[in-house]
Amino acid sequence: MVNPHRLRPLSCVVYGEAEAPYDWPMTQDELKQAVARAALDYVPFAGVLGVGSGSTANCFIAELGRVKHKFDVAVASSEETARRLKALGIEVVDLNSVLEVEVYVDGADEVTRDLAMIKGGGGALTREKIVAAVSRTFVCIADESKLVDVLGRFPLPVEVIPMARSYVARELVKLGGEPEWRQNFVTDNGNMILDVYNLDMLRPGELETTINQIAGVVTNGLFARRGADVLLLGTGDGVRTIRR
Ligand code: 5RP
Repeated sequence: MVNPHRLRPLSCVVYGEAEAPYDWPMTQDELKQAVARAALDYVPFAGVLGVGSGSTANCFIAELGRVKHKFDVAVASSEETARRLKALGIEVVDLNSVLEVEVYVDGADEVTRDLAMIKGGGGALTREKIVAAVSRTFVCIADESKLVDVLGRFPLPVEVIPMARSYVARELVKLGGEPEWRQNFVTDNGNMILDVYNLDMLRPGELETTINQIAGVVTNGLFARRGADVLLLGTGDGVRTIRR
């Protein structure tokens, strides 16, 4: 049986169908588009849809116009995502005005088979973590390059209050990390990001809590305590679904 998620057309694909047969080896961008299309099956029939940030989430947004009649309103994990949704005519509401988000669809920088993630490569980690917390179901969409056995090759983003930057960096060094201040970047919340290399993430849930307890940390990009519920993983053989 043909996997429907391998079928063209994909809305962001730059070439025509004739040049893109079904078995065409997929590029990373095509894998992102395939998982974005697969995620449309999870868009709720009513209520609130949460929409994440980043290039994979942007592919999902590009597909959303086709099903925008299905759900009532959206909440966005970044100003950029809100702008893109509004451009499609989708109503974006403040998270404070809703009790629950039915489904949240977002990408990840790394994800394990038990659906813990590193997020925040685009700097939207705090709002992403808040939307994830309010959501019933978190659907992670990622291409296969994001799947890892152990988190930590991708540097961990940590959002910090500006006056605490040096203190937090010293505390992160005590934890074995090598923090780097993300230059020329301010989060949607007016804060800074430290990207932390070489942390031991064998116990990601513990590390997530430890880092969040440092004074001045807003949050960190480990999503282990509240990981994804479903992973749609784009592979050369089609979209694999992994559930918690
Ligand atoms: C943004 C994020 C993104 O989900 C993450 O960086 C993945 O992005 P991309 O889909 O572009 O690889 O957490 O803060």
